[in-house]
Amino acid sequence: MRMQMWIARWTRRVALGVAIAMAALSAAAVGAQAQEPVQVASPDGRNVVTVTTRAGGLYYRVERDGRNVILPSRLGFEFRNAPALRDGLTISGMARNVVDETWEQPWGELARVRDHHNELRVSVAETAVPRRRFDVVFRAFDDGVGFRYELPEQPDLRSFEIMEELTEFYMADNARAWWIPANDRSRYELLYRSSRMSTLPTVHTPLTMETNDGLHVVIHEANLVDYAGMNLTSRYDRRLHVSLPAWADGVKVRGQTPFVTPWRTIQMADRAADLHPAVIGLNLNPPNVLEDVSWIEPMKYVGIWWGMHIGTMTWSSGPKHGATTERTRRYIDFAAANGFGGVLVEGWNVGWDGNWIANADRFSFTEPYPDYDLEGVAAYARKRGVQLIGHNETSMGVENYERQLEDAFALYNRLGIGSIKTGYVGDLTAEGHAHHGQYMVRHWRKVIEAAARYGIAVNVHEPIKDTGERRTYPNMLSREGARGQEYNAWGGEGDGGNPPEHEPILFFTRMISGPMDFTPGVFDIEIASAKGTPRAPEETRVRTTRAKQLALYVVLYSPVQMAADLPENYEGEPAFQFIRDVPVDWERTRVLEGRVGDYAVVARQERGGSDWYIGAITDEEARTFEITLSFLPAGASYVAEIYADGPGAHWRDNPFPVTISQQDVDAAWTLTLELAPGGGQAIRIRPAR
Ligand code: NOJ
Repeated sequence: MRMQMWIARWTRRVALGVAIAMAALSAAAVGAQAQEPVQVASPDGRNVVTVTTRAGGLYYRVERDGRNVILPSRLGFEFRNAPALRDGLTISGMARNVVDETWEQPWGELARVRDHHNELRVSVAETAVPRRRFDVVFRAFDDGVGFRYELPEQPDLRSFEIMEELTEFYMADNARAWWIPANDRSRYELLYRSSRMSTLPTVHTPLTMETNDGLHVVIHEANLVDYAGMNLTSRYDRRLHVSLPAWADGVKVRGQTPFVTPWRTIQMADRAADLHPAVIGLNLNPPNVLEDVSWIEPMKYVGIWWGMHIGTMTWSSGPKHGATTERTRRYIDFAAANGFGGVLVEGWNVGWDGNWIANADRFSFTEPYPDYDLEGVAAYARKRGVQLIGHNETSMGVENYERQLEDAFALYNRLGIGSIKTGYVGDLTAEGHAHHGQYMVRHWRKVIEAAARYGIAVNVHEPIKDTGERRTYPNMLSREGARGQEYNAWGGEGDGGNPPEHEPILFFTRMISGPMDFTPGVFDIEIASAKGTPRAPEETRVRTTRAKQLALYVVLYSPVQMAADLPENYEGEPAFQFIRDVPVDWERTRVLEGRVGDYAVVARQERGGSDWYIGAITDEEARTFEITLSFLPAGASYVAEIYADGPGAHWRDNPFPVTISQQDVDAAWTLTLELAPGGGQAIRIRPAR
């Protein structure tokens, strides 16, 4: 015990004081001391990882401020046709490294990201034949810990098939978790549930948990390139086990040494508000590989889209076909008039007639419907300075898509279509590979890389979760990967739409992984445009106030943000000004208030500008926040343009009133934000003129 305390103190001192001495990568055979615990601490000394062997098994554990967060948890693999890499293991060496560098994002929630960590590479070997070797690399950051396996090339470990990854996360506390089940036909598009982590079935990551003493822990992964997406399963105790979706034949991961796995990450924060902006995953991805990123444009967009979801238009051909030349030109005009960068057009291409989910192979990604003059509207968009956004729904017909990829992207490139929205409605591939398995992970990476070659940015629906690939490929702009606005049009699970707590949960769960194309901004909350009569509160419809729809532009980050409603629903609406003004790219982000599932108040500074924006959202409870504007530069005068829930606003009976007001403010000012049940508030703070 005393020895361990000494080691912990020593490690902290090394991390804080003599880190430089450790900087030179030093491989040291640990020989006789090999079985002593080996440790690495975060630069601030608060997070400590200890690696040990016990009865031939390899374990890691994580402490924060000297308290257990992750108890000794097993590491290893099971293979097909090869013995497991699990028993008879010894630590044969270790090496350390220190990194402290700051890198710039082409776009993001913040412009500059600091990567400051201490690394410990633990070399492990089997003591008996086949004497295979591998490393586990740990990186300790102030905001959490990441680790991955590295399998070097060696005679008895060449090509392999992983049947199980044995990594565990043995939680010291039976924390409260917010989760969605994995392996469901609806992919990530489910309502979050909350329960003690020991009761979890197989769930998706990011998995957000709050321990009994208020520590927030998020388990996720980073740099998923050629592996299956990681799910977690509790088997009804506090040990979370990795569970990997499979290829059609049951294999989880196919690989060949040398091989590295994705990083497993354990983000930790003292308060929910400190979980954002989450950068641990970005820091664990390789730097940008694209030389020129000037063509990648964060933007707001409108689309021929909501009409299909509320049933006034169709993707398929016929009298209600949405993607007509004439309508597209009108949407281009609307985008140009309001300073939006793009127009998404869905249902423009042949293949939507009949059952488009079953007939995935019929989609053409180059041939437009006869009433859609692709060349003509593309030319018109270019003339009006607006981008046409290409839509590629695959219905999981990925082979059909891959066959057409080069031709389609070459065409889009020629027409000036600089970004696409892809879609993967469907469960398995035609061959039976899992939606989130290695086969699909490879596909998604292939699309990002091909798109980059043609100068195309990508927004993926029904995606694999975000594991930070935007750092390496900044053309990977946004994705869905949760229940978005569309569920308010047609529901799911017979639930009538997203409940008011949905977005305050999303912010602390799904949004920890990265941007989401949620598609905010529906003003016609009761969806009267669908049938000419408002939908009743019990029916499927938007369950927020209108002011909350505005606040979502600030809270739910995405470099591409849609103004989701029909253009006619914005006409003559003063609150639309906020959607016109709000940026999609940020210099810095501060979460001022937050509780998972209850509320979030987020302030962001416009990238390269001096405006700040605040978005505040609540669940079904009305709430009041006192917000000090101390993030503004001292002494400067600003004007706050406030879009608040109007008198008597309530998501259920009175969702529309928005009170717009102005207030002179400065860094010493405190704003009182009053949010209605299911409500929100959106504020632009601009320098006084
Ligand atoms: C589901 C997507 O989330 C939605 O945005 C899209 O309109 C449909 N699929 C059709 O591709």
